[in-house]
Amino acid sequence: MTELTTVIHDASEIVVGPGTDAPLERYENAAIAVTDGRVAAIGPTEEITDEYPAENATHAIDASGRSVIPGFVDSHTHGLFAGDRSDEFAAKLGGEQYQEILAEGGGILRTVNAVREASDDELLANLLPHLDTMCAHGTTTVEIKSGYGLDTETELRMLDVIQRADEQHPIDVVATFMGAHAVPEDEDAESYTDRVIDEQLPAVAEQGIAEFCDVFCEEDVFSVEQSRRVLEAGMEHGLTPKVHAEEFVRLGGAQLAAELGATSADHLLHANADDRAALAEAGVTPVLLPGTAFSLGADYADARAFLDDGGSVAVATDFNPNCHSQSMGFAIALACVGMEMTPAEALVAGTHGGARALDRAGEAGTLREGMLADVAIVDAPSHIHVPYNFGVNTIETVLKDGEPVHGGQR
Ligand code: NIG
Ligand code: FE
Repeated sequence: MTELTTVIHDASEIVVGPGTDAPLERYENAAIAVTDGRVAAIGPTEEITDEYPAENATHAIDASGRSVIPGFVDSHTHGLFAGDRSDEFAAKLGGEQYQEILAEGGGILRTVNAVREASDDELLANLLPHLDTMCAHGTTTVEIKSGYGLDTETELRMLDVIQRADEQHPIDVVATFMGAHAVPEDEDAESYTDRVIDEQLPAVAEQGIAEFCDVFCEEDVFSVEQSRRVLEAGMEHGLTPKVHAEEFVRLGGAQLAAELGATSADHLLHANADDRAALAEAGVTPVLLPGTAFSLGADYADARAFLDDGGSVAVATDFNPNCHSQSMGFAIALACVGMEMTPAEALVAGTHGGARALDRAGEAGTLREGMLADVAIVDAPSHIHVPYNFGVNTIETVLKDGEPVHGGQR
């Protein structure tokens, strides 16, 4: 028998997802009914509550004066780590460059040392509170990459902890293998690339947790050719490719992502018109990470150029020790103010766009009938308040599969 899990009624607006004629498909004075964890119906309150009376629902939520939006899909994070790199934030403000810090054994390599020393339980204890924070800020699906192990044992441990977090925490966690995140100290990129392919990838495939394979295609990290070798080997093992592309220089990662039909190309601060065209043509979702540019003091990616060509983008947090924000609301505010996206475009990029970047547009990121009832309720009458109230959390209540997982019910 179907169970009427939840009815949210009298919302001042419900955002369904991207519209066909308007930037957003949305209803005013609206309700949404959830059966068996999925959206059963959405529309004007009277119409919906006639068919699905709120009093019959396990959870009835009066959302008057509130905006109801799809839960955020944060499609790019390195949220599992250990140690503290806040001093690097201060050093960068003093003029040090991210890549200088990495070249001196800091940055990613410093986190690698801390992760190798941490036990699985310590790693899990680090991750779960971050997931709580993400959830409290409206995120219902998050991608987390490995890549702070750089050896088979620690990469597998990271993926295992990511899976345990997915099992223990209500929000959905998607695992990406990123053995090619940096070149370990005392090793050269070419021989490490061989080890990622020959040692790490077969073990990761055997373990069966990772869904995607990502690589840091960047000057002084992995070349286009090395990145191609890793991603092609990943594909042979059934892992879908993603690429960190054109973050510090324009090296060719975007063209590689297009050529391989990657699910996403991420960062893209230095992508040009040819790159944008190639990604659009190949159906690769550009994932823009304005928090990273903000924390590096770098120029933002040219979101307008992607959007004005008729394309779509995702916006994500890139939460990691170098970009320490779990908040999709903040990323959306930066997308508006720093990348000139409209609040509607930024909201779509943080929900439907993120779902596309994770191959989940068929079930997450919009509130159409049949989709997962992953919902965030904004403590204000319009979705515009998410970026308008920058630096504070506007999310009051979060539902995963229709069940309240954060915040109060009114
Ligand atoms: O996406 N650019 C490479 N990787 C991360 C940073 C990871 C770190 O600095 O620990 C990123 O920004
Ligand atoms: Fe990243």
